[in-house]
Amino acid sequence: MDSYWSQYWQQGHLTSFGNEFSENYTGALKSHWEKVFTAIANQTQVLDIGTGNGSIIALGNKVNPDLYFTGLDSAKLSIPETLQDLDNINFVEETSAEKVPFEDQSYGCVVSQFGIEYSSLSDSLPEVARILNSAGQFQFVLHDIESSIVKPNIQILEAAKALLSSEVIDSLRKLIDGLAKYGQQSQTTEQLRHKLNADIGGLATKHSSGLQGTNFPAFLKHVMNPGLELKKRRNDLNLFLHELDGQIVRLSDLVNAALDESKYQQLIELLKKYDLQIDNNEHIFENGNMIGRYISGTKAQQ
Ligand SMILES: C[S@@+](CC[C@H](N)C(=O)[O-])C[C@H]1O[C@@H](n2cnc3c(N)ncnc32)[C@H](O)[C@@H]1O
Repeated sequence: MDSYWSQYWQQGHLTSFGNEFSENYTGALKSHWEKVFTAIANQTQVLDIGTGNGSIIALGNKVNPDLYFTGLDSAKLSIPETLQDLDNINFVEETSAEKVPFEDQSYGCVVSQFGIEYSSLSDSLPEVARILNSAGQFQFVLHDIESSIVKPNIQILEAAKALLSSEVIDSLRKLIDGLAKYGQQSQTTEQLRHKLNADIGGLATKHSSGLQGTNFPAFLKHVMNPGLELKKRRNDLNLFLHELDGQIVRLSDLVNAALDESKYQQLIELLKKYDLQIDNNEHIFENGNMIGRYISGTKAQQ
C-alpha cells in the first residue's frame, strides 16, 4: 500500500485529491485547519500523521509560522520547494504511525487529516498518547463511510470488482480478436459485438454511476476506434486492466480506512483507553454535504 502512495506523491500532488485541489485545500477543510492552527500557542511542536506532501502543514504555516511542524508518513514523499529548507518544518518519510521515532511527551499537538485512520489504530493511538506532552492536544479529520467523498468511491469499487468478475473483459478480448480475424462486417464479428453489448448492459443496470468512475466507458470507446491495430488494442486492454487492479487496491484501502460504526466505536474506546479526552466530535460539511468527521481532544493530565 505504501508503494502506491509513494508513486502518487512522486507525481508532485500536494493533496490526496489530485488535480481537484492542485493549489491545496479550499473551502470547509481550509477554514477548519486555519481555525485550528490559529488557536495553537506559538512555539508548539506539531506532528502531522499521514502528512503526504505536507498540505496541512502548508495551511498551518501560513496562518501560524511560529509553530514547529513535523510531517510523518509511511510513503516516500516529494515535498514542494516552498516547504523545504524552513527552520520550523521537517518531514520524516517512510516511517509508520504505529512506531514513531520520537521521545515521550515531545509534541504539544498531533494533527491528521485522512491519515491516521489508514494505520492500525490500536498501535498508532498509544503512540499519539505517548508522544503528547501533558495537556497536549490531538486534532483529527477522518474519512467517514457515509461522506460524500467516500460514498461515490464505494460505488466505483463495487463496479470495478463486478467488471473483473463479469464476462465483459472476456467478451471484449474475443471481439478484439474477431475484428482482426473476420473484419468489421462479418456475421461472427456481429455476434461477438452483440454478446459484449449484452454483458455490458447487464453490468450497467446494476453499476451505472460506479462504472463511469472505473473509466471503462471511455476506455471502450477508445479501444473500439476503427483506426486501432490489433496489437495496440491488446496492449491498451492490458494497461487498462493493470490500472483497474491498482484502482481496486487504492479504493479498498480508502473504504477500510473510513470510519463505519464499528471502527468509530473502536476509535472512541481506544481514545478513552489511552486517556485522550474528546473535546469535539462532529461532522464537517461542505455545501450541505458531509465530508468527514472531526474529532479533537486533550491528553488527560496524569
Ligand atoms: C489520503 S492521504 C492524506 C494526505 C494528507 N494528510 C492530505 O490530507 O492530503 C493518506 C496518507 O497516509 C499515509 N499513511 C497510510 N498508512 C500510514 C501509516 N500506517 N503510517 C503513516 N502514514 C500512513 C499514506 O502514505 C498517505 O500519504
